[in-house]
Amino acid sequence: MDIFTQAKKLLEQNRRITDGHQYTVPSEEHYPYQWLWDSCFHAIILAQFDPEAAREELRSILSRQLPSGMVPHIIYWKPGILHLFDWGVEGTSSLTQPPMPAYAAWEIHRRNPDVAFLESIYLALLAYYRFLIEKRDPQDHHLIGIVNPDESGEDNSSRFDGPMSAAPDITYKEHLALREKLIGENTACKFDAELCMRDYFWVKDVPFNSILVENLRALAHIASLLKHGDGERFANLHADLIADAMRERLFEDGVYWSASGLDYTKLKIATWAHFAPMFAGLYSEEEADRVVRTHLLNPDTFYGTFGIRTVSKREEAYRADGYADGFSWRGPAWMAVHWFIYRGLLRYGRKAEAADIREKSLALLRRSGFRECFNPDTGEGQGARGFTWGALVLDMNEA
Ligand code: GLC
Repeated sequence: MDIFTQAKKLLEQNRRITDGHQYTVPSEEHYPYQWLWDSCFHAIILAQFDPEAAREELRSILSRQLPSGMVPHIIYWKPGILHLFDWGVEGTSSLTQPPMPAYAAWEIHRRNPDVAFLESIYLALLAYYRFLIEKRDPQDHHLIGIVNPDESGEDNSSRFDGPMSAAPDITYKEHLALREKLIGENTACKFDAELCMRDYFWVKDVPFNSILVENLRALAHIASLLKHGDGERFANLHADLIADAMRERLFEDGVYWSASGLDYTKLKIATWAHFAPMFAGLYSEEEADRVVRTHLLNPDTFYGTFGIRTVSKREEAYRADGYADGFSWRGPAWMAVHWFIYRGLLRYGRKAEAADIREKSLALLRRSGFRECFNPDTGEGQGARGFTWGALVLDMNEA
């Protein structure tokens, strides 16, 4: 069976329906719930060949939005599940994840125009982005903060070792224990950014903010189409403000760095966060050219034979071989990162490099199957099996 057929089959196998809500679990064995950015990836993939399933995926992930507007990063869909992120809210986590729903909604519409669908989710989308902008930026500096590394989607990334007080050679279990401790602290400050930011984890993350900028642009397109002038102006204004603030506070030495705390201390660990701003067009053509040539294509830092490293090989924390007991964002290649980079490269007209990322992604799947992450130097699969993100290759078809 070819990879594309396998990818479609995997999404079908991992499809679930609970209480009339249809969604896809990222891995039957390891991740039997619904995750926020995973569902957005699923929607983007499904938009290619099953638009109604794509719309269902977004409807279900938005269906447990909290009154504050926050969209939780996990919906358990099963009663009584006690999980690491459970806090006070029945059946969902109390964290969010990179805010991809508007982008996914616009992708679905772009491929299969359906104004009624966009209208049906518009207010939920607007409320979510309003929540991020109003509640996650208590200093009013136009940079959105995350209160826990899991909100970045890169749960144990070396990028956060400073604020997490994690050693470069930390084990999987030790890191999990640190995140559990932080969840206790998050719970104590009620997951409220204003209360949490002074004492605990408070990071203005580059991928999160880049993804937000691009999603606000998508929201503006949706609002414009639906003739919601206020929503369009709101989304465009904040996309500009965040892009400007990122430039002012997170840009140094030709790349963007995440920053921590009230004083914006830059977290100088080189990770794929250098490439995420390309997804939102935040580098000039010249800057992007330099980032691609000196970082992305550099075998001594990010360019592995089999995949793009999530952490530079030159970092002390870098380890290609992942963890035996779980996933690792400390070097291994991940398909969603490949996809973001692919889209970013296309945005800058770099078709040859984008095609290379696509070929690398396909080769990884052929060699090791639909695994959670991969050793970028050997191509060996790591973490969960039957993991849906590999199906993003179905969306790498424009170069
Ligand atoms: C892991 C990943 C996270 C993803 C989740 C479900 O926790 O780090 O990004 O959303 O698995 O696939």
